[in-house]
Amino acid sequence: MPIEHAAAVKLSEQYQQVRSLSEKLASKLQNEDTIIQAMPDVSPPKWHLAHTTWFFERFILKENDSSYVPFNPQFDYLFNSYYETIGSYHPRHSRGVLSRPSMDEIYEFRNHVDEAIIQLVNQFESQLPQEIHDLIEIGLQHEQQHQELLLTDVKYNFSCTPLLPQFAEPKTFQLPQSNTETTYINIEGGLVEIGYSGAGFSFDNERPRHKVWLEPYRLASHPVTNGEYISFIEAGGYEQPEHWLSDGWATVKKEKWKHPLYWRKTEDGWYTFTLTGEKKLSLDEPVCHISFYEADAFARWSGKRLPTEAEWEHAMASIPIDGNFAESECYHPVVDHSENLAPFKQVYGDVWEWTSSPYTSYPRSKPLEGALGEYNAKFMCNQIVLRGGSCASSQSHIRPTYRNFFPADKRWQFSGLRLAEDQS
Ligand code: AVJ
Ligand code: FE
Repeated sequence: MPIEHAAAVKLSEQYQQVRSLSEKLASKLQNEDTIIQAMPDVSPPKWHLAHTTWFFERFILKENDSSYVPFNPQFDYLFNSYYETIGSYHPRHSRGVLSRPSMDEIYEFRNHVDEAIIQLVNQFESQLPQEIHDLIEIGLQHEQQHQELLLTDVKYNFSCTPLLPQFAEPKTFQLPQSNTETTYINIEGGLVEIGYSGAGFSFDNERPRHKVWLEPYRLASHPVTNGEYISFIEAGGYEQPEHWLSDGWATVKKEKWKHPLYWRKTEDGWYTFTLTGEKKLSLDEPVCHISFYEADAFARWSGKRLPTEAEWEHAMASIPIDGNFAESECYHPVVDHSENLAPFKQVYGDVWEWTSSPYTSYPRSKPLEGALGEYNAKFMCNQIVLRGGSCASSQSHIRPTYRNFFPADKRWQFSGLRLAEDQS
């Protein structure tokens, strides 16, 4: 069944919006910035711009448009990220050597693919097949994921040059600070349901909706702040193995971690590097750029624990999705200034919240068919689920059921935590 005309028009509009945001973000960079890969986990901005474009070319145009002429046959090798079933690819850790193709060629590639996608959609007029609609939708969601990665990767790259460049001008907005005092909200639990079941977009890893049993628990009203985290540092948290998981303690010793990523201690107190330059650390902002290991150790030191992803989703399912997202262009978590009366604050946006849940498939979950089945499912080993989105996520990308995931030692994403505890 083809989809309705209005839905096809909406999709074209979303396509233009999402694609142009990537270019808007990239326009804040100098050409030299776009090639850097300062560690294997980050990708050069140029690679993000090309890979997201390759995704549309490879999975939509090459599969559904027999008249499509590929922009450059070598791009399948260069810009395939990890899809083993469709051919070999350039090694991830060497993305930073790609001085060629030039940025100009990448923009030509983007235009070439944009024209072909729009033409494909228009060619069907009011008869756009559901399958093509869904592929374009996943292509856009994919690009939104890479927009967030572009921001976190640029931040990491910029933190490595002593010049500490600014990606954007700091936003000076004065909003009354809310009552940031953390309270704990009781949640009954019982037999609840989590996972996506609506009519909109969701990734295969969010489905199907299914039942979960929750014992009565309590969840903090706010994410943990920098001030609270400093108490942990000053109490010797990074020197005391008793708070840490074994792997976490090994990482603390090996990496000589003493504080979150991007923090710097001066005689004048703590400073932190942000996408708007280095600034004095604000004690009331949510703590950010910590690993799962640090979040877990902080929680144990506090006499609390991390919530499971089911506890998180059940509690947050009806909280409105507003907050400090990439749209606000702060590119940094802010002090709570919410005016809504919801019991939980800063749930969506600001910082991703580490849960205690390993990233695994939901009962009866089916990955997408074909190569796109590699999108999520094959990473369900040795990673931890994060919830809620960050100041680098687009608001339209985030849902209560959204599952982000990273290995336990990674901290270059905007990752923080919210505490939980059992009801006694
Ligand atoms: C969900 C952010 C872990 O970084 O690989 C990008 C997003 N998936 N392209 C990742 C993603 C395919 C994914 N994370
Ligand atoms: Fe990707």
